[in-house]
Amino acid sequence: MSHTDTAILTASTADLTRAAAMLARGETVAFPTETVYGLGADARSGPAVARIYAAKGRPTFNPLIAHVRDVASAKRYVTWTGTADRLAAAFWPGPLTLVLPLRADHGIASLVTAGLDTLAVRVPAHPAAQRLLALFDGPLAAPSANPSGRISATTAAHVLDGLGGRIAAVVDDGPCAVGLESTIIGLEGKDTTLLRPGGLPTETIEAVLGHSLGRRDQTEALTAPGQMLSHYAPAAAVRLNATAARKGETLLGFGAMGCDLNLSRGADLAEAASNLFAHLHKLDQTGRPIAIAPVPNTGLGVAINDRLRRAAAPRDR
Ligand code: TXA
Ligand code: MG
Repeated sequence: MSHTDTAILTASTADLTRAAAMLARGETVAFPTETVYGLGADARSGPAVARIYAAKGRPTFNPLIAHVRDVASAKRYVTWTGTADRLAAAFWPGPLTLVLPLRADHGIASLVTAGLDTLAVRVPAHPAAQRLLALFDGPLAAPSANPSGRISATTAAHVLDGLGGRIAAVVDDGPCAVGLESTIIGLEGKDTTLLRPGGLPTETIEAVLGHSLGRRDQTEALTAPGQMLSHYAPAAAVRLNATAARKGETLLGFGAMGCDLNLSRGADLAEAASNLFAHLHKLDQTGRPIAIAPVPNTGLGVAINDRLRRAAAPRDR
């Protein structure tokens, strides 16, 4: 496949109908969600899902999120619980993923769950994602639309940079509003556990639940599927908690400070989240090492710092 073999589609009904037909044929199509762009394939088809892993170069022990239209669709694949009901009522559609036990008659390809007996499900809020799910009329497995281990894509241009020529199409509907992947909550046992901080602050979830979320200990969190230490990594080296650039570095700032690019001059965490991956993509193109200013570790800052730690982590590539 050459770069030009990836069709660039709009969010028009005609184009989304074409995208849905490609997905029905077992092809991979990248589409926008409110968090990041996802690389979709029919979650019921092993060969289709295999194309996601191949395009991303993703290890097949790292399971995928199934995107569905609504709670009723989610219930066809997983065993639902009271806590799932409360969280879905409060936050779906939106940047929240729930991990629940698979039903016996689920019909989901085992490559999606990497052989686990649980499934991650999410109802995205982005109108183009919603319309694509309605037209496709089935579950879409969709990881973030970036090469495995690299910076997530928040624009169609990022998707094409990383995966152009390796996927059938991308639906371009502009930049993603949230800019961080969904928050993942595990509901498979009796506990309600934070599996990945993300675009929905944990404080907001805990306010609805009326109690605090269980946390996995760091060692476990970093060795569990998909929580690899080196992830979201630019090609350039990354240094954290920088207050000034050292010789040769470019500085990514936060709040009022002199720097090459700023996540949010007004120190607004939602703005910083929506800029994070796009700014990293941009700085990565300079080829210079990247220094990054400290970001407060509350609200969305927890997920921002999680991504930054992984971007800066030692790599074995
Ligand atoms: O916002 C998002 O969540 C984006 C958009 C496209 O929806 N998707 C996304 O997918 O971030 P991905 O594949 O980059 O991250 C999915 C994470 C991985 O860390 C994976 O290990 C975890 O979800 N995961 C998937 N299924 C799981 C399961 N059954 N149990 C535990 N973790 C699971
Ligand atoms: Mg990802």
